[in-house]
Amino acid sequence: MNIFVTRKIPDAGIQLLKKKFDVETNQEDRILTKKEIIKGVKGKDGLLCLLTDQIDRDVIVAEPKLKMISIYAVGYNNIDVQAATEQGILVGNTPGVLTDTTAEMAWALLFSVARRIVEGDRFTRAGKFHGWAPSLMLGQDVSNKTLGIIGAGKIGTAFALKSKGFNMNVLYVDEQKNTILEQKLGAKKVELSELLTQSDYISLHVPLRPKTHHLIGEKELHKMKKNAILINTSRGPVIDEKALVKALKERWIFGAGLDVYEHEPKINEQLKKLDNAVLQPHSASGTIETRTKMAIMAAENMIAGLQGKMPPNCVNPEIFQKRN
Ligand code: DGY
Repeated sequence: MNIFVTRKIPDAGIQLLKKKFDVETNQEDRILTKKEIIKGVKGKDGLLCLLTDQIDRDVIVAEPKLKMISIYAVGYNNIDVQAATEQGILVGNTPGVLTDTTAEMAWALLFSVARRIVEGDRFTRAGKFHGWAPSLMLGQDVSNKTLGIIGAGKIGTAFALKSKGFNMNVLYVDEQKNTILEQKLGAKKVELSELLTQSDYISLHVPLRPKTHHLIGEKELHKMKKNAILINTSRGPVIDEKALVKALKERWIFGAGLDVYEHEPKINEQLKKLDNAVLQPHSASGTIETRTKMAIMAAENMIAGLQGKMPPNCVNPEIFQKRN
């Protein structure tokens, strides 16, 4: 069987795939166009793609042989899963292995904004530090504050649990009750509006779906405290970026730590100029260990799917159940 890989991923995954299949990998370290992906998928049984690839209906129907799409990511909002399901194509993703790594990045961003780490680094390197001063670069305490988690799934839960050492009051918004957070942290499930008005620090951990698009807009930003910090390691379009720029510029909130952007890889020019925003290049899962585990997981999903087995992590298992 043949598979197409849209961009180089860690070798551990490629080697696993090569043991079983003929593997064609995009050798250029860049995002392919839709046209190039359609060309690449021709004659292939499997497609291993990234979150930067638009896997829409045109790509999905381009090759009738296609049986499996494995994404090297946990989020799969860039894949038309409904179209894949209609075509009988299994879709696999990589949950779990990046949970702690992503949660750690959310904390890194939170501390960077609260303690003005990036701003302080720039200031110091620019030769502006002329000695300790009572009001130099003042930030905000993290300990004993109220932490708001929007989306208490795997990553949101891991992020919240890491707050234990900082003795925080934890609020969360989710469709389901999270007994781990309630038992281990005494966390309280609340409505979004209460979380926004009560939290000092808010971290987003929801998948991108039509109902989470612009979940945080002008109205929501206005509800936040003046000292609030907003962290986003989920997907960019969950925040209305224009509204966020306004909120940061006009100091409705203290700051924001962002790993993802509404029109990625484009970033609002004004956002780049703001000292109260810390920006990362969508690298929350970017550690050597985690990216290797993701590559292995994506390969294992592909192998299982093309061998007629249920991929260990499948987002449309109903296809497999129908087939068997
Ligand atoms: C994902 O997996 O969805 C992250 O955004 C990148 O690893």
